[in-house]
Amino acid sequence: MERKKRMILAALTTLFCRNWLTLLGAMLAGISAFLIVSCLIVCSLGLVDSPYVGILAFMVLPGSFVGGLLLVPLGALWDYKFGSHGKKPDTPFPILDFNNPHTRHVVTTVVILTAFNLLIFATVSYQGLQFMDSPEFCGKTCHSVMEPEYTAYTGSPHLRVRCIECHIGPGTSWFVKSKISGLGQVLAVAMHSYPTPIPSPVENLRPSRDTCEQCHWPEKFVGDRVKIITHYQDDEANTPTKTVLLMHLGGGGQGKGIHSWHISPDKQTFYTTPDPKRQKISKVRIVQKDGKETVYSAGKDVFTPEALAHAEERKMDCIDCHNRPSHVFKMPVTEVDAALETGKLDATLPYIKKLGVETLTEAKGQESDPELIAQKVRTFYQDKYPDLVKSTPERVDTAIHELQAIWKRNVFPKMNLTWGTHPNNLGHEQFPGCFRCHDDVLKNADGKAVGQDCDACHSVLAMDETNPEVLKQLGL
Ligand code: HEC
Ligand code: HEC
Ligand code: HEC
Ligand code: HEC
Ligand code: HEC
Repeated sequence: MERKKRMILAALTTLFCRNWLTLLGAMLAGISAFLIVSCLIVCSLGLVDSPYVGILAFMVLPGSFVGGLLLVPLGALWDYKFGSHGKKPDTPFPILDFNNPHTRHVVTTVVILTAFNLLIFATVSYQGLQFMDSPEFCGKTCHSVMEPEYTAYTGSPHLRVRCIECHIGPGTSWFVKSKISGLGQVLAVAMHSYPTPIPSPVENLRPSRDTCEQCHWPEKFVGDRVKIITHYQDDEANTPTKTVLLMHLGGGGQGKGIHSWHISPDKQTFYTTPDPKRQKISKVRIVQKDGKETVYSAGKDVFTPEALAHAEERKMDCIDCHNRPSHVFKMPVTEVDAALETGKLDATLPYIKKLGVETLTEAKGQESDPELIAQKVRTFYQDKYPDLVKSTPERVDTAIHELQAIWKRNVFPKMNLTWGTHPNNLGHEQFPGCFRCHDDVLKNADGKAVGQDCDACHSVLAMDETNPEVLKQLGL
């Protein structure tokens, strides 16, 4: 027993204490391993929930752990070549004689320690990759940079979809690409050299076939869908009205419809845009399966030759219409209408629709905007409805609170992000959207413009009516 102990001790001494380089490596690896395991325990017990602990545990410490491990054999080799025994060795590498019990012990110790290291390393790599793929890591680590996108994401239908499922998708080559570009991004954050706001469209975003279509099957959208939109008028009573659209969604080449036309397997749409935000389009090319091509282009005087020289062509996919599936920044009108409909804003407060939209529109992105909102709303009701303020001041306070909340999820002064910074392409009311092409500007060789027939994309069953007949007929 005593002999065994001595042998192990001798093996460890041979391994680590012969030279300072190996000793340093062993200490570095040992301390890092201890800290990594501590971080893992702390994280899995839920004691701290900060992405910085994750960065430490999964990115910084593993670096020093591996660095330490590399120093161990390097030190041994250095020691053998130029080390303490003075004379130059006869062979380039040490000779291992397994008949020598000391050598056997040294090798056994190395094997056991290596197995232990591999175990730690595998655990950390796995946990680390999982951690780096989590929305918390993407959204919170560089907090102020990703705050707008993360905030909008948490209120979107895709909250359960991780950032990477849209931004990276499956497959190793994209994974590696994204990690390499991620390194550049981490550097940009450290140097504060990132653009504000973060530009959209995202350069080299992966084709939606590999991302969106992993979950949504284009062939599945068939038929029509009723869409009821509630607006509130600018009058004292905030009168609600309904617009009823029958959206011709359609799918996969079956008949007419939005998806059947635009994501049909039988034809592809390419468009050319001189605008970095893809809001202005100079040319559209429809290529049929048999190679037949129809080109719609803008008149000569619409774009300058310099602008056209920088134009890029792109194949249209899901994201050209659904460009805000997850980071849905809204306009004041949409937000106030929605808050009135859900009751978060009190629709019995006189003129709250008009006042809310005006106040929010003015709050364009100063840190002091929330106070401005409070002051404007309070002054309005004190001047015009003093009795209301006296009897039920909390109604005004609640409205102020809700308007401030709307501001907070759409306007981010630090990132220069304000109302309309990221246009939504799905529609044509607030942004050009579908009318980027379905307008009078783009014409084919026969002088025919891209279709603008109101009934091609939807039937308008009612428009801003207080009591649409059609809803009664549908039993809604
Ligand atoms: C459902 C898919 C989806 C998910 C989930 C998603 N994104 Fe996005 N993201 C997009 C699309 C689409 C764009 C716009 C791409 C374009 O226009 O080229 C975008 C754009 C961005 C941009 C560029 C700025 C902007 O607002 O356009 C950032 C930054 C971003 N996303 C970060 C994130 C982060 C962080 C998460 C997770 C918290 C996330 N995304 C989750 C689809 C998604
Ligand atoms: C990991 C799976 C997944 C991916 C990837 C994904 N989605 Fe979705 N998407 C969903 C689920 C689940 C829902 C339903 C959410 C709900 O009904 O609340 C949904 C809902 C939607 C809706 C309906 C939203 C609404 O307001 O009702 C649209 C549009 C949509 N996705 C488009 C996209 C686009 C475009 C992409 C690619 C940028 C994408 N999705 C990527 C799973 C996914
Ligand atoms: C030409 C523009 C366009 C393209 C391209 C497009 N969509 Fe759509 N999509 C729409 C419109 C418009 C709607 C209806 C929106 C509404 O009703 O608010 C819609 C609705 C949807 C919905 C909701 C369907 C439902 O039943 O609620 C999903 C999911 C969706 N699209 C996914 C996709 C995917 C995935 C792709 C790519 C394969 C795609 N879309 C390509 C315009 C487009
Ligand atoms: C990049 C240009 C472009 C954009 C953006 C675009 N479209 Fe189109 N779309 C076309 C072209 C070109 C045609 C073919 C027009 C024709 O032949 O008359 C077309 C045809 C259609 C058709 C078939 C029309 C018919 O008469 O049967 C529908 C439906 C349609 N688009 C819906 C939409 C919707 C909805 C949007 C917005 C969410 C949209 N498109 C955005 C270029 C575009
Ligand atoms: C190329 C397809 C397309 C054409 C053509 C088109 N629309 Fe639309 N329209 C849409 C889409 C997509 C939406 C958005 C639906 C939604 O809110 O998700 C929309 C929304 C609307 C809305 C509701 C807006 C709101 O928020 O209240 C009205 C009203 C409307 N369209 C009227 C028209 C009229 C009138 C025409 C004819 C001049 C027309 N549209 C032509 C695609 C089209």
